[in-house]
Amino acid sequence: MSVGKEQQAEKSIEALLEEQRLFEPFEEFRRNANVSDESIYEEASEDREGFWAKQAERLDWFEKWDKVLDWSNPPFAKWFVGGKLNVSYNCVDRHVKTWRRNKAAIIWEGEPGDERVLTYKDLHREVNKFANVLKGLGIKKGDRVTVYMPMIPELVIALLACTRIGAPHSVVFGGYSADSIRQRVEDAESNLVITADGGYRRGNLLPLKNNVDKALEGNTLVEKVIVYQRGENPEKVHMEPGRDLWWHELMEDAEVYCEPEPMDSEDMLFLLYTSGTTGKPKGVVHTTGGYLTSVTSTAHMIFDLKEEDVYWCTADIGWITGHSYMVYGPLSNGASVVMYEGGPDYPEKDRFWEIIEKYGVTIFYTAPTAIRAFMRWGTEWTEKHDLSSLRLLGTVGEPINPEAWMWYHKYIGNERCPIVDTWWQTETGSILISPLPGVVSTKPGSITRAFPGIEADVLDEHGNSVEPGQGGFLVIKSPWPSMLRTVYNDDQRFIDTYWSNYENTYFTEDTARKDEDGYIWILGRTDDVINVSGHRIGTMEVESAFVDHPKVAEAAVIGRSHDIKGQCIVAFITVKEGVEATPELNDELRQHVATKIGPIARPEKVYFSSDLPKTRSGKIMRRLLGDIAEGRVVGDTTTLADPSVIEQLVKQQQSG
Ligand code: PRX
Repeated sequence: MSVGKEQQAEKSIEALLEEQRLFEPFEEFRRNANVSDESIYEEASEDREGFWAKQAERLDWFEKWDKVLDWSNPPFAKWFVGGKLNVSYNCVDRHVKTWRRNKAAIIWEGEPGDERVLTYKDLHREVNKFANVLKGLGIKKGDRVTVYMPMIPELVIALLACTRIGAPHSVVFGGYSADSIRQRVEDAESNLVITADGGYRRGNLLPLKNNVDKALEGNTLVEKVIVYQRGENPEKVHMEPGRDLWWHELMEDAEVYCEPEPMDSEDMLFLLYTSGTTGKPKGVVHTTGGYLTSVTSTAHMIFDLKEEDVYWCTADIGWITGHSYMVYGPLSNGASVVMYEGGPDYPEKDRFWEIIEKYGVTIFYTAPTAIRAFMRWGTEWTEKHDLSSLRLLGTVGEPINPEAWMWYHKYIGNERCPIVDTWWQTETGSILISPLPGVVSTKPGSITRAFPGIEADVLDEHGNSVEPGQGGFLVIKSPWPSMLRTVYNDDQRFIDTYWSNYENTYFTEDTARKDEDGYIWILGRTDDVINVSGHRIGTMEVESAFVDHPKVAEAAVIGRSHDIKGQCIVAFITVKEGVEATPELNDELRQHVATKIGPIARPEKVYFSSDLPKTRSGKIMRRLLGDIAEGRVVGDTTTLADPSVIEQLVKQQQSG
């Protein structure tokens, strides 16, 4: 059985690497595309700074920059030095000054079916009022505000209000647990948290406020918590006297205009925590001018945003995709953005298709994991709906297998919508590698080529560019405007993680392959990060959660391939002396991790073992654990201190 699985795994990698299908841009699309001339690539590479300066001109600046790029102290870049601007002004005010004032900015649908549309004028009023609320609570420029909210318009309002007064936000994904919130609130040293009593997911109101209450136990820094009422029973919500305030009460008396704070181009715009090799998530720091320049221009060119488009990105705002391509990129372009609160299969498996039909969505951006789930659910759900409004499809977050790409192309795009497979990271801030839909031919499974002005390459370990057909490490060789500026309060980690493998070259931590046409194919990550449904989870974070349980002695966590999620979490556990490894304990431990980190980190499978496979020097051999979890023939075990451990684990794997 294990050999069969091994062959299967190899076959799918082979299939990916040998994918030869080529889809040229559709002629009609090309004719009307925002970018229809390939010369943009050459022009940008001849004068990168000139290209980015031109992109920055898409924004309204209070004061123009003196210098496009200061790279005199790498890896600490400064973009649009001396420029002053405000993000909320660019995302809202400048549209309100035009006919767009009554254009829909946010078309929102709650999971239970409630609907709201906020025009740019509505958004302007709410953002201004909430900015005044924040000011009234003493929040000043530079204060970090933690936001833990469901996908409701108030989340966008809260973010834009923060940017209006220059208070960097730190959004914590609504699926994270109390411990994860605590860690992030403490690291960011926030003194304000914005939350809601709950948010709907598969028919239930998730208890967001309870999680915040738990997270703040013993915290002395947080002075106020603002609570938006999403549920029906406000009297059931615990409100801590002197600390917790209702959103709607604060908004009642708020003034309707708040002067936007002129921010320096390099002032921090937001912090977003993401997983890496060590157990502690990194606070990725993004700044104002460069970030907004990159997300605005990429949204315009890659999503081909036109005035009449109805754009829907299904990502949660708790992730970078939601920040850049649900909020800042599209709103800065003055687009109409669809926002949906809940799950794709609630109440039925056609909820997404129903939303596309209902609002006439033209651009749809989602993740491969979702596409694979749709494939499994079958076309009976898509056939029920008219999807003919769609004209462009996007995917992000993990490699898309050619079969899923083809399904997306055929059943959602009706073979007439270009697909943009967009590669980027929390750290890159904006899409760096993706086709431009009007000019680049696509190959299912390939992210194609770098965006104009981005210098991507695949290098071998010596820093040489690999030959066509070869694999290596994906890097970005010159700075770009939306690059992370540092890891919050940890410049050394910033340098060590991204800039110490090659000189003045950004190390993405991804491996990739370049094909004969120079197209890039992502193979996977080099660090200890598992990509579960497009979400980054650090193996160390999960291991710390396990060993925090009183019955666990040691834990090793790895990623295993999964048909729908791309990867899933598998753990190998040794229990403490005298503890019995029962199926009940197995369930309890999986639940423990979900409670400690959040349901996305719930391990798929836990193996108990009397010991872990270690070298004689005590290092856990993860490669062997990977072999066991995947059901492959286990590799070389000669360096193991105790080879019998492997037999024990293989037996467990084979018995399911
Ligand atoms: O491994 C790459 C994968 O997701 C990682 C970044 O994760 P995160 O910071 O959570 O951001 C995800 C959304 C931007 C990358 O290092 N990844 C992202 N997009 C793609 C991808 N892998 C293959 N193809 C993609 N299009």
